[in-house]
Amino acid sequence: MRFLWSRGPARDYHRLIELKEHRQDLMVNPDVRKCNSSTAWKNYLIPCLVTSAVILLLFLWASSEHSIVARLRLDMIGTNGSGQGVVTGGGGLGRTAQAGGLDEERVRRRAVGAVLGALVADAATMGLHWVYDLEKIRELISEQGRAEEPAFFQPPSCPYYEYESGSLSPYGDELLPVLQYMTVGPGSHREGTMDGPGFAKFLAEYYFNYTGRLNKSSRSMMEALLQGGHGWPECGDPRDTQANNFVKVIPLVARYAGQPGLVKAVDAAVRAQQNNDEAVMYGLVAAMILERVVLGFSITDAVQWAADGAAGSGVSLSRTALEALQTVIRHRNSGTPLRDMLYAPGSSSKTGSWGPSCANPGALQAALLGALQEWQHLSIHLASSLGSRDLNAAGSSSNNGEGGDDTVYARGVRANILLGGDNCSRGILLGALLAAEAGPNAIPFSWRAQTRTYHSSEVLVEHLMEFRSSGVRRRNQLLHYRHHRLDHQHHSRAAAAR
Ligand SMILES: *[C@@H]1O[C@H](CO)[C@@H](O)[C@H](O)[C@H]1NC(C)=O
Ligand SMILES: *[C@@H]1O[C@H](CO)[C@@H](O)[C@H](O)[C@H]1NC(C)=O
Ligand SMILES: *[C@@H]1O[C@H](CO)[C@@H](O)[C@H](O)[C@H]1NC(C)=O
Repeated sequence: MRFLWSRGPARDYHRLIELKEHRQDLMVNPDVRKCNSSTAWKNYLIPCLVTSAVILLLFLWASSEHSIVARLRLDMIGTNGSGQGVVTGGGGLGRTAQAGGLDEERVRRRAVGAVLGALVADAATMGLHWVYDLEKIRELISEQGRAEEPAFFQPPSCPYYEYESGSLSPYGDELLPVLQYMTVGPGSHREGTMDGPGFAKFLAEYYFNYTGRLNKSSRSMMEALLQGGHGWPECGDPRDTQANNFVKVIPLVARYAGQPGLVKAVDAAVRAQQNNDEAVMYGLVAAMILERVVLGFSITDAVQWAADGAAGSGVSLSRTALEALQTVIRHRNSGTPLRDMLYAPGSSSKTGSWGPSCANPGALQAALLGALQEWQHLSIHLASSLGSRDLNAAGSSSNNGEGGDDTVYARGVRANILLGGDNCSRGILLGALLAAEAGPNAIPFSWRAQTRTYHSSEVLVEHLMEFRSSGVRRRNQLLHYRHHRLDHQHHSRAAAAR
């Protein structure tokens, strides 16, 4: 990966293919692969030795620091607000100054899990997207003998569009341009960052090229920009607050988690399509919770933290958002089935208090509650089968395991599919959260194989991770510089006092 990064940012799709070829050798466990490659070993021997030496040094350093993870957590718990590190303008939880060592590896694993988990969940759900009747869903899957496995349902039965199985839904197709913009689009010339004006143009063009179904705010932003000549943020819909906002934040979290700039990036990306504070707020809530999970907390801790006001984040959540989150916690604690929030009691199609659609805050709440409950079920299940000791060990072997079909991620996504409605946007956030906490290995191999854009997305996500390093490197330099300056000031002051 270091190797790829040193080759500089990709400029276009040819570059992407080139990267992809390199990847064959470098993927999964780049260091081991590089060492084992018998055909090109000469090319790799030197980088391999260097990488091994770096890893050894990092390891020695980490063990000498003894509890690095505990330190990271302390840092993030943020008892001491905003002052440390180089946190600039509302940079999320940008306090992981030690990133670059083992912590950064873990953050990356979770970040990769989030993006790929979101995309695979979306493709897995697409076959039953926007079916608003639970009875109808039950009928469809039993007709096809798919009661055990509703994922990647065939034939795709969304009443609003016809895509081939394994394609992303229109929501997954909204996440993709964000990822593309930062990795192979204009953002790639600026260390894989997000900005409003550039992204709005890119998104409008992406929608213009899109041959699938465009939703309302997607179409209206495209027309406002291409025909009306309105730039960012005026091109965004002034009222729409539906789930399009939180779908877009997932690659942003992967890029910015623990580094400054997330809040600004969310604002830029959401306003390109939905130019109003409420839409931005829902995007932010999702981003801050997912960031927290990517940085190492559980989904439960992250949602609780946000519902308590997101201390230390520098963001003040709106009252509506806080109430929405507190409601989620309440239903999690009382064990309300998600179904009863989406649909009216006793009905399989009448709307309940959150509704099954992509309207917020219901869609956001439903994604969060769905993810929370999946871990809750897992721990109840494990506690009963193991007598509650060793919960973590059991959780990681049987559920975070190695791409099997019965991971906590797969169960969560399946349960969500069966709840119908909208469907894919809920699945994207829920899938991102579950795969962030459980790690990318929780995404079943068989699902990855069925997701059409999986491999190209995987390359883009890896590339996005390389841009993180440039951020980390710069940060470390800045920190270094700051320390240096502080030292210097200290010395001058001491000298002046004398
Ligand atoms: C936070 O940091 C400030 C200044 O660095 C210090 O005075 C304060 O006691 C710290 N607060 C906590 C809660 O650690
Ligand atoms: C739109 O399509 C054109 C022509 O194929 C292509 O050059 C361009 O990169 C596409 N833009 C986006 C944002 O996908
Ligand atoms: C998508 O389009 C459908 C039909 O026009 C509409 O009911 C739904 O609310 C739209 N969703 C979003 C997110 O705009």
